[in-house]
Amino acid sequence: MTILITGGAGYIGSHCCVTFLQAGHDVVVVDNLINSRAQSLKRVEDITGCKLFFEEADIRDQDALERILAKYDCTAVIHFAGLKAVGESVSQPLDYYDCNVVGTHRLLKAMEATGVHQLIFSSSATVYGDPQYLPLTENHPTGPVNPYGRTKLMVEEMLTDVAASDPKWRFGILRYFNPVGAHASGAIGENPLGVPNNLMPFITQVADGRRDKLSVFGDDYDTRDGTGVRDYIHVVDLVEGHLKAYEALQARSGNDNCFTVNLGTGTGYSVLEMVRAFERASNKTVPLVIAPRREGDVAECYADTKKAEETLDWRAQRDLTAMCHDTWNWVCKNPRGYDD
Ligand code: NAD
Ligand code: UD1
Repeated sequence: MTILITGGAGYIGSHCCVTFLQAGHDVVVVDNLINSRAQSLKRVEDITGCKLFFEEADIRDQDALERILAKYDCTAVIHFAGLKAVGESVSQPLDYYDCNVVGTHRLLKAMEATGVHQLIFSSSATVYGDPQYLPLTENHPTGPVNPYGRTKLMVEEMLTDVAASDPKWRFGILRYFNPVGAHASGAIGENPLGVPNNLMPFITQVADGRRDKLSVFGDDYDTRDGTGVRDYIHVVDLVEGHLKAYEALQARSGNDNCFTVNLGTGTGYSVLEMVRAFERASNKTVPLVIAPRREGDVAECYADTKKAEETLDWRAQRDLTAMCHDTWNWVCKNPRGYDD
């Protein structure tokens, strides 16, 4: 079984390659390297002792995708490729609609042309917008508050419509909460280019001295310590959820051909709790200042995990200590990411 992994050189995609190779699948990666390094794939091969195939291509290039799907006789696609920076999506919305929405449309056209009908999609809890209740169940109303989130919701809707049009299609839509951590080997991990937007990469760059201090965006939320609460999930748990989703898709038939599932732990941690946990795991101090709230942030966001347990027979295994420890291990072994 050859699985096409789009965006497989990126943070989550590279960990997914490891999990699928170790489960005995053949893997071909399509990535245009706009936010990653091909070096990550070499590391995947080192970790697994398996060869994978890499095709440098853009998902908007339908001809290239058709050629690749046919060349490797692919049976399914795991679709990570896309742009993901919320602020950039506000200033460059056309790039986001083009890459995330048009790109997925071209991918589906290429799959249709080559007879490949199974896809797992990287969506995000951002599609829920401001939570009306917690924990967030999959049938919570959607209402994304930025262009990035809207591209994710549009793709979800496109997949739902295509699934309804013909039972030969099978889709798994996975809504990620906050992926953090790295492979236990420390050989692959998150390698943000420029100033990190997300909390964990920022904390690590303060801990390793690249930045002076963390700005905590608001300490006056209605949460246990006033700082924002999120559902952080270890990236290896997250990609194991993809393997379970792939297995669940094999068992689907008829009109029961599309599912939407949260991938989170069900537990929220505050910004200050994350900082303290990271300090314990790294034995470093993370200086911080309290800054104004960040526009668009919600106070609390965490997953209801029941549907994932029932649909995928999956639940996250790794705790906050492992998330922080594995992140720090990766950073210590690769202080300049893949540029060493
Ligand atoms: P990433 O940027 O590390 O990986 C995305 C990969 O896609 C990169 O290797 C990039 O080079 C590639 N890519 C981008 N546009 C492409 C195109 N047009 N053609 C081919 N390749 C292209 O990001 P990630 O954190 O690994 O996220 C993977 C997916 O998961 C994304 O779709 C993202 O929106 C989604 N997601 C991520 C998070 C998160 O916090 N990391 C949360 C929710 C959802
Ligand atoms: C952000 C995105 C979300 C995306 C997710 C991917 C916004 C508004 N939301 O979510 O769409 O799906 O990343 O993982 O950008 N924080 C600080 N200081 C920092 C960075 C973050 O205090 O320097 C706080 C935030 O206010 C928040 C928490 O840390 O309370 C987590 O932030 P972040 O890692 O950016 O994730 P989200 O806000 O959940």
